[in-house]
Amino acid sequence: MSFFPIEQAPARLNRSELAVPGSQPQMFEKAAESDVDVIFLDLEDAVAPDEKEQARKNIVKALNEIDWGTKSMSIRINGLDTHYMYRDVVDIVEQAGERLDLIMIPKVGTAADVYAVDMMVTQIEDAKGYKKRIGFEHIIETALGMQNVHEIAAASKRNESLHFGVADYAASTRARTTVIGGVNENYAVLTDPDSAGNRAVHWGDMWHYAISRMVVAARANGLRPIDGPFGDFSDPEGYRAAAYRAAVIGCEGKWAIHPSQIALANEVMSPSDEEVTRARRILEAMAEAEAAGKGAVSLDGRLIDYASIRQAEVLVDKARQIANG
Ligand code: GLV
Ligand code: MG
Repeated sequence: MSFFPIEQAPARLNRSELAVPGSQPQMFEKAAESDVDVIFLDLEDAVAPDEKEQARKNIVKALNEIDWGTKSMSIRINGLDTHYMYRDVVDIVEQAGERLDLIMIPKVGTAADVYAVDMMVTQIEDAKGYKKRIGFEHIIETALGMQNVHEIAAASKRNESLHFGVADYAASTRARTTVIGGVNENYAVLTDPDSAGNRAVHWGDMWHYAISRMVVAARANGLRPIDGPFGDFSDPEGYRAAAYRAAVIGCEGKWAIHPSQIALANEVMSPSDEEVTRARRILEAMAEAEAAGKGAVSLDGRLIDYASIRQAEVLVDKARQIANG
């Protein structure tokens, strides 16, 4: 390991994260009763300009009055380039800050953006005498945010997670797509003809680089990388495939923009019994190997060594965290 210590963000289950528009209070109770890990009440892109003020009021009331159980509660504030953002922070943190766990900052572009919100939240928390510190979730969804992702990830002690906002990222990078997440038939490899002249098309994942880059910045700073929205809520298989792609490269959660996506996210982002059993067998085999003075052995015909212990511990720790709720 490097001598440089990586401090981990507070452990928080974040397999699923449900987006709920702050302007739709009739949706709040159902969200509170769902199995989702994190809820963000939105003040930004799902709320029309004329509804921003009422949405704030709805959110203050809901945070104070609804029983959200053990769910982590977040608000998505408006961008720092709008005149809504300061009131989002002031009104909601002042009036409902005790039940607020997280603030989601959209379209974050630089470390200074994070600093500005941190300064405001710190003043309000101090003035109100809150004991708990509110954490930050950042949506990486612009070319500038991706360019500065490492500095953003390191910019505040409040930082907990980075989220890939695929829709705005596509707009910002001028990607040629109008769907939210998913794949594109034009992002594909056409193979050369085989001996019979046949050619195959292999669809690729156009978001692979962006998500991978965000995962590295998040993990290098002890934060959770979370994959963002998948817009086609009538395509559970497409959602599941996108979630698995994100999970296998290190994301530990995915957004749900519809309640039907919550169970899918929880399922994909929880290690399966089979994976956990294999991880436990690796730990046992390595413990025996160590007792016998060996650093590497074979298990089921495959090499395992000390790196396998660290890989297996990730899965076993995650299973323990889920079991503890
Ligand atoms: C989320 O905010 C997105 O733009 O995808
Ligand atoms: Mg967005």
